[in-house]
Amino acid sequence: MVKKFRFNNPIATYAVVKDIECEKGALSYFTHNNNAFSYTMSDTTAVYGLGEAVRGINKRGWIYEGYCSDDPCHTEDKRSLYGAHNFLIIDDKNAGGDRFGVFFDYPTRITFDIGYTKQNELVVSVDKPNIDIYIIEGDTLRDIVRNFREIIGQSYVAPKWALGFMQSRWSYFTKDDVERIADSYSDADIPLDAIFLDIDYMERYKDFTIHNERFPDFENFVSYMKQKGVRLVPIIDAAVKVESGYDVYEEGVKNNYFCKGDDNKDYIVGVWPGKAVFPDFLNQDVAKWFGDKYKMLTDMGIEGFWNDMNEPAIFYSEKGLEKAFSQVDSYKEMSLDANTYFDCRDSFSKLSNSQFDYNNFYHNYNGKKIKHNDVHNLYGYFMTKSAQESFERNCPDKRILMFSRASYIGAHRYGGIWTGDNHSWWSHILLCLKQMPSLNMCGFVYSGCDMGGFNGNCTRDLLLRWLSLSIFTPLMRNHSACGTKDQECFAFENTSDFKNIVDLRYRLIPYIYSEYMKAVLSDDMYIRPLSFDYENDEIAKAVEDQLMVGESIMIAPVYTQNANGRYVYIPEDMIQLRLNGDSTISESEIKKGHHYIDIPLNEVVFFIKKDHCIPLCDSAKNIESLDYNTIKLYGNGKSYELYDDDGFTKAPDLSKTKTILK
Ligand code: GLC
Repeated sequence: MVKKFRFNNPIATYAVVKDIECEKGALSYFTHNNNAFSYTMSDTTAVYGLGEAVRGINKRGWIYEGYCSDDPCHTEDKRSLYGAHNFLIIDDKNAGGDRFGVFFDYPTRITFDIGYTKQNELVVSVDKPNIDIYIIEGDTLRDIVRNFREIIGQSYVAPKWALGFMQSRWSYFTKDDVERIADSYSDADIPLDAIFLDIDYMERYKDFTIHNERFPDFENFVSYMKQKGVRLVPIIDAAVKVESGYDVYEEGVKNNYFCKGDDNKDYIVGVWPGKAVFPDFLNQDVAKWFGDKYKMLTDMGIEGFWNDMNEPAIFYSEKGLEKAFSQVDSYKEMSLDANTYFDCRDSFSKLSNSQFDYNNFYHNYNGKKIKHNDVHNLYGYFMTKSAQESFERNCPDKRILMFSRASYIGAHRYGGIWTGDNHSWWSHILLCLKQMPSLNMCGFVYSGCDMGGFNGNCTRDLLLRWLSLSIFTPLMRNHSACGTKDQECFAFENTSDFKNIVDLRYRLIPYIYSEYMKAVLSDDMYIRPLSFDYENDEIAKAVEDQLMVGESIMIAPVYTQNANGRYVYIPEDMIQLRLNGDSTISESEIKKGHHYIDIPLNEVVFFIKKDHCIPLCDSAKNIESLDYNTIKLYGNGKSYELYDDDGFTKAPDLSKTKTILK
């Protein structure tokens, strides 16, 4: 089912955990010429995959790059975002053509021209052809995903509470702010499981410190909030502040734990705290050392983290800054013409995330000095790995929430991801919808986007519509940037509408948790494109704005402003479930075909597959307070196979699934 082809001498990525012998013959399906691997598509070939990327579920018609990029503007002209997920599925089986998956295991920049230069040509190119390529076959699209997921290892399992609704902002500055957020949710009777602490909880943006004036007696505060039913989730950034007397910095310097420049000195960059250095997560000793630092926070009762800025993001480097100043200096006395003016203007903005810097610092990887650029896509992955491995050592009995911004396939074993700095744009509801199934193919099952949008100002209607997608994604977090309009559910009028929809998430938890766990434990997809369930349906193959969620649900969220509903494609006779504005639920039959469905802002409509049932319980203030004795089944099936556990166990066991009869 899986064939491995090795070209030259690839750098190990540990993305694949299964031992597979290399094939001796020529690469299947592709022709190979120097640095490029080409495949000819027919007009009907669909191409799925690439995880976190812009554009469609079917990736045809654009050029993408696998190169972890800190880019806060996710427009369709971009080629890469924060993750590099180099797995594709090529499907033309219905027209008698090929169907296979392919994984390009390559830790630095790789380009996927999928019908961009020539409409029917798929060309994958790399700088240096040191690469492992895996061809994955299977009868169905889902089989291909399962066969791939089996070789890359089981996806990270989140604690159950992390499937609750979570609120974030850059930043809730003080403990009083945090408490006010929790109380406002409680006053509005909207469930809430966690509040996130962004960079300002730290002392001057130093990892593993607490700002003692803003968060005095942090440990007690963590436990006080937990008693209220809300967990706190702090951010950890990749770069460590340069500051004498700061223990993390000093220990790192003493032990040579930071990435070095050409001159063998610590490579100094600028990020949130000003001058900072990068821990060399690719070096196992460093990974262990940094990972163990999380213990300071887990010892205070923290049970979840988000790892950020680990592409790694660079505002500037000392070297780059020097060059920029001298360039601008040289322009001082000049009459700036078109070229020099733009050059002068951009001198500083070009400093961020520059290729110059990525080519100028080094790792100690498996005992060898390696230029950062050659292993660029492994950095965020290894940061997350270092944290999760430390949780195994230091909190062996508990699942700890972990999700990251940068990632590579392999990182899916150690944490989830969120899709980074999106915007409060209607088009970004749809972008999130399209990213979710592609991420599931690549193993990132615990994923979600900044609900409501990170950059820009969110409006009431946008948040309500966004909710009706996010209530189905495992990670459901409202997050926004500093300087933007308040975006918590209670910041808008008629909070009962928000309550109604967030309550639906909690009512659905018996289903969502069960389906999420089944997907993770059987290397399957929790969220899928319609074409993965209705392979022979040519209409379903073209649907880019509806999704399958778990075994039984199809969703079709509204993602345009001022719409009162939308057209939905029903691929077989189904049951339509409507959450009404008064929180009652109506069920009705709906026939295969196209339908216009009215969906007022305060309602949610979704669909249950024929002969399937889904469990809903009563809502509660948080996940731990849900009462499964209140479960009722909806749909026209006879029973549901429910998986449940304590939400923490490290040895989840699918054989404990119970049948509940209607
Ligand atoms: C980055 C993150 C964002 C966070 C901000 C401040 O932009 O993507 O989520 O709020 O940094 O830490």
